[in-house]
Amino acid sequence: DGDVFKYYADGEWKKSSSGKTVAITNPTTRKTQYKVQACTQEEVNKVMDTAKTAQKSWAKTPLWKRAELLHKAAAILKEHKAPIAECLVKEIAKPAKDAVTEVVRSGDLISYTAEEGVRILGEGKFLVSDSFPGNERTKYCLTSKIPLGVVLAIPPFNYPVNLAVSKIAPALIAGNSLVLKPPTQGAVAALHMVYCFHLAGFPKGLISVVTGKGSEIGDFLTMHPGVNCISFTGGDTGVSISKKAGMIPLQMELGGKDACIVLEDADLDLVAANIIKGGFSYSGQRCTAVKVVLVMESAADALVEKVKAKVAKLKVGPPEDDCDITPVVSESSANYIEGLVMDAKQKGATFCQEYKREGNLIWPLLLDNVRPDMRIAWEEPFGPVLPVIRIGSVEEGIHHCNASNFGLQGCVFTKDVNKAMLISDAMETGTVQINSAPARGPDHFPFQGFKDSGIGSQGVTNSINMMTKIKTTVINLP
Ligand code: G3H
Repeated sequence: DGDVFKYYADGEWKKSSSGKTVAITNPTTRKTQYKVQACTQEEVNKVMDTAKTAQKSWAKTPLWKRAELLHKAAAILKEHKAPIAECLVKEIAKPAKDAVTEVVRSGDLISYTAEEGVRILGEGKFLVSDSFPGNERTKYCLTSKIPLGVVLAIPPFNYPVNLAVSKIAPALIAGNSLVLKPPTQGAVAALHMVYCFHLAGFPKGLISVVTGKGSEIGDFLTMHPGVNCISFTGGDTGVSISKKAGMIPLQMELGGKDACIVLEDADLDLVAANIIKGGFSYSGQRCTAVKVVLVMESAADALVEKVKAKVAKLKVGPPEDDCDITPVVSESSANYIEGLVMDAKQKGATFCQEYKREGNLIWPLLLDNVRPDMRIAWEEPFGPVLPVIRIGSVEEGIHHCNASNFGLQGCVFTKDVNKAMLISDAMETGTVQINSAPARGPDHFPFQGFKDSGIGSQGVTNSINMMTKIKTTVINLP
């Protein structure tokens, strides 16, 4: 009936006084795999108090010491990659190998952040007054980056470890304390990841993990007066958080509808390989997944054939067997995907494979001849279903991309780099990849969604900067 896990506060593992738990359903078996504590609002209040106190002395801890602890946590996390990956397999049905990769990538991210932090936080600015009109050299201005206070991190189910540490590590190196609210699917992997920070010896109360129902503690956390910054990755919830949050910095990444624009001169084998990787890895459950292919009519038949051949080779089944396509995270997600497929069917899309579903497992599906009146042309399936829209001109492709309410990433395939640059400039997305599928990594690259895809820039350096404020001291000379 599922192992029960404790939450983490004040350096200890605790049971909630609510006496209640939240069940985590294994997407493959659809049975309860684990249970986590349903924390109460009073417990959140306590966590916020300890986070505030712990932050004060952490901010005074030398930067090199903070970095040293992060390096230690990174090493321990990598040692624990097998049990954490197992949680990812059971909780979110991530293919076994990808689950291990997520943990290793997270260890690397922590180390890189520690290194980047000691460099960029170890430097300030020195300005003199006489560069501005009307001033003599009578003022010396010194600036440094100081922590914000308590950072609230809310990662999504698809990267419960990696998108948690991408918030935790920059927050900590910059001298903040951290409260983590993990996604319910993925909460146990996140608790185990935080256990590695615990083993590394971070001060009590500096990191806390509260688990529970969004309906009970979600708004309470995000609107809590003790929170000085929110870093959130997920869906539309982010929009409502941004409306309710106080006057604090927000870093949000809220999904996308990444377009893949394919020109006539593109290397179609390269495109097909990237469509498979970009559209179907982790069964399309990535915000940066290729979510619509916009291909020039003259190249479309050949491209669709190549992609079809590769789709046929995808292994479909349980994550334990390291299949390419595994069950999507929940029944409601599978139902939503099915709704998009049925709408496309009714409106006349061409099915390149037969639609097949067993429980939460949906077989990979390429939909050709999708038109703008179909929901799937605009909505994010977050599943292994990819629409192809045939375009008559590059302008039409750019227009479709920019008509989306999302603006995360996009990609363009052509051998003409000049054309690619112009298309990149025209696409209203945070990142455009030339001749490769969209991706957030390497994790030190800037990562920012435009429009409904988010606010605030991510990537290691940007996240560290975002989790600090500028403190200025001016020396006035006599
Ligand atoms: O799901 C959202 C992630 O930020 C995407 O990361 O490009 O490494 O899969 P990824």
